[in-house]
Amino acid sequence: MTHSLTLRRPDDWHLHLRDGAMLKGVLPETARHFARALIMPNLVPPVVTGAQAQAYRDRIMAALPTGSAFQPLMTLYLTEATDPADVAAAAASGLVKAVKLYPAGATTNSHSGVADFSKVQAVLEKMAEIGLPLCLHGEVTDPSVDIFDREAVFIDTILDPLRRRIPSLRVVMEHITTEEGVAYARSGGDNLAATITTHHLIINRNHILAGGIKPHYYCLPVAKREKHRLALRAAATSGEARFLLGTDSAPHVDALKEHACGCAGCFTATNTMPLLAHVFEEEAALHNLESFAALNGPAFYRLPVNEGHITLVKHEQPQSFPEKILTEAGPVTVFNPGFPVHWHVEA
Ligand code: DOR
Ligand code: ZN
Repeated sequence: MTHSLTLRRPDDWHLHLRDGAMLKGVLPETARHFARALIMPNLVPPVVTGAQAQAYRDRIMAALPTGSAFQPLMTLYLTEATDPADVAAAAASGLVKAVKLYPAGATTNSHSGVADFSKVQAVLEKMAEIGLPLCLHGEVTDPSVDIFDREAVFIDTILDPLRRRIPSLRVVMEHITTEEGVAYARSGGDNLAATITTHHLIINRNHILAGGIKPHYYCLPVAKREKHRLALRAAATSGEARFLLGTDSAPHVDALKEHACGCAGCFTATNTMPLLAHVFEEEAALHNLESFAALNGPAFYRLPVNEGHITLVKHEQPQSFPEKILTEAGPVTVFNPGFPVHWHVEA
């Protein structure tokens, strides 16, 4: 039995840090284990321009614990008014590593997102030209489409036509949740990748809804049925270069999760690496954890791998994690996998 595993320090290719008191409270949770993270731009108002991304990056750096070497990698929020020249300048300066597309209305703070895809064609063509990846929240927003089908319908009706229109565009399917997502990611060449979250490897829709509603398991895209979770596990643990860790750790204060209209998001920054070690061990794939969490992402984003390492140790006794992170914005519940976790990050 493996009791200890040393890997390159991981990166998180999809992270929500928010701003202000929440940022200050949650940032140390990611900076503890991760070297870098791709920071989602869905603030209120969203991070649309290069200047806004620079200011947000400055606020993140100012909120970092002293001595931390964590690096935030910035994204821009794509709107129908986004200026291709501004995107190109922000990418050329090295500040911005991707552009995020939220279909308007798909999720938290997505009302400024894209409703008419023809309006963003020029930006997408510019991104294809300069090799800047487009990160996609892949769900349709048509209220007549069942919420459990929204990812598969997005792939057929939006993603595939978009990639046919601009074949050289580099695309990341964010937080895939279905076997259709896995299959579509596998159908592409090296300009297509997909992130997978920690929580979608652990929960299916029963965890949210059976035996009482569990608001802390509610996120978007919502967890699907078991066969999809198994497809995601097979993909994440396969070692295939197209699958990247993107936790989508998305903090909301408990008062807004435990609410009549609860916010979407699972907060996994604190215990992601031990949970992944648990999952990869169950799949007899601990040897592929480094690829998923530390090698595939930099390869896709054309960045160097991290020099540092972390060591995960498996203990005889279950390890404890804080139930909540107490931020000045309010308490944030840490994702509870519902099983004992014996892995712990030691360094
Ligand atoms: O669960 C989610 N939470 N999914 C998203 O797409 C957005 C995120 C958030 O910002 O809270
Ligand atoms: Zn997200």
